[in-house]
Amino acid sequence: MERKVDVLEEKIEASLSSSSTAAIDSISLGLARKVHEAGMEWSYRDKLIMAPMVRISSLPMRMLAYSYGADICYSEEMIDRKIIKTIRKIDPITGRIEYHLPAGGITFATYPNEPVVMQLGTADAVLALKAAQTVCNDVRAIDINMGCPKHFSLQGGMGAALLSKPELVHDILSTLTRNLTIPVTCKIRLLEKHDDTMRLVKAAESAGIAAIAIHARHIADRPRNPARISDVPAVISQLTVPSIYNGDVFYYDDIARVKKQTGCSSVMIARGAQWNPSVFRSAGMLPVYDVCNDYIAMSTRVGNVYANSKYAILEMLKGHVGPVPQYQSCTGARDFGQLRAAVKGVADVAAVLTRGYVAPLAASLIAEMERKRLRTSSSGDRSSITSDSNDMNGASGTATTSSIVTSTRGEKRKRRRQKKKDKRTQRTHTKFLRIESKTETKSASNTADKRSPASPTVNGVDTLSSSSSASAMTTAATTTATPATTLPTTLLASIDS
Ligand SMILES: Cc1cc2nc3c(=O)[nH]c(=O)nc-3n(C[C@H](O)[C@H](O)[C@H](O)COP(=O)(O)O)c2cc1C
Repeated sequence: MERKVDVLEEKIEASLSSSSTAAIDSISLGLARKVHEAGMEWSYRDKLIMAPMVRISSLPMRMLAYSYGADICYSEEMIDRKIIKTIRKIDPITGRIEYHLPAGGITFATYPNEPVVMQLGTADAVLALKAAQTVCNDVRAIDINMGCPKHFSLQGGMGAALLSKPELVHDILSTLTRNLTIPVTCKIRLLEKHDDTMRLVKAAESAGIAAIAIHARHIADRPRNPARISDVPAVISQLTVPSIYNGDVFYYDDIARVKKQTGCSSVMIARGAQWNPSVFRSAGMLPVYDVCNDYIAMSTRVGNVYANSKYAILEMLKGHVGPVPQYQSCTGARDFGQLRAAVKGVADVAAVLTRGYVAPLAASLIAEMERKRLRTSSSGDRSSITSDSNDMNGASGTATTSSIVTSTRGEKRKRRRQKKKDKRTQRTHTKFLRIESKTETKSASNTADKRSPASPTVNGVDTLSSSSSASAMTTAATTTATPATTLPTTLLASIDS
């Protein structure tokens, strides 16, 4: 392992001498350090993790996240059937490992020893294993998505559909842990009843997983609903595997607080990283404008597909400046050069991008969530809340941006559309649960037969037996939680100071 790491570092050092900007140099050095550390040991304790995010967690974003301080990054969710069909190639010049789709296009790319976890979307143990075996020599761990509430996932029995099927969860995970030599994890959402959540996590734990990520929301919760952080300690305190807390972590300072509040072993960040991946920087977040430039530099360096990079940049800007006219020139940019110039155009009118990190849209969103939470919750802690503010860091620049963030008709239309979409998802989920419960009632009587000793084997793989050879990989969690009742104080303070 050490030799592999040395070779990679030599490669990176060699490419450094030919790189043009200081930003890229520091990015590469950051990656080299992370790769080196990851090569020495792999654990889920005290780690800063970038969450799986569709269209966001591609190679340049992951590289940037490592350079800023992330220890582990998840890939976006990859559907098992899609991964199985891919063809692995290595770029002879860069050493990049690429998984090509038969119809063209790269679905996943990585560098040797990148501390990346491949997240799979699956509803079937055999397909999950085949997909995992396709990539297992190029990723450090496999994660199973059990939280996606989207129509596509639920319809296919994947994502959040797995939350109500602890037996299937156990089968998928134990099939993976028995047949793979790399760690296996899963990412869940909380269920409405604590007992149901416990049934699920215990089924996962007994399958020999190395860690469990908990997104502290219910299936029906939308991202704008506050994470249910106070429900997490009761789950984590009963786990024996390391836990990864996920939900509403937007600032570096909140990481320690969330850990203390929940007793989790590691922390996973999604939207905070999507809006500004330098959230992982212990020295403080960088201005979004600098991060955009770093991201564009990284994208060109790793040869990322332009459309994907543009999407990530637009998401970063959207999270901060609102509908300024200059934003439109970013959407029209046709190449990295035009995109860089367009981002500068936005930064010229939205000083918030260059002045130090402030996230006005994110802040007002969180403030609104918190107000709603207090309105509906009689047990909310109001003591620290006095008035509203958009200034997340107590930094200057809010006045400039609040004038930019206006409630336009376009925004109202968008909100209406989002509401409709939420209702649709909710309907799909309710329908899904209804069908599920009917099916479960029907099949309850013969469940025992299905799991008879004559477990089916496919391609020599035992898909139902419960013993786990990978349990050795599972380390006992030592952290226990003091039950938490409020949101992180810094978050509250920054929302309503
Ligand atoms: C753009 C985007 C894409 C996402 N894609 C995935 C995904 O592929 N797999 C997954 O398990 N969760 C996905 N999520 C959910 C996040 O991983 C995370 O659980 C959720 O956003 C809560 O974390 P946060 O409060 O830090 O944003 C996605 C979230 C966002 C914002």
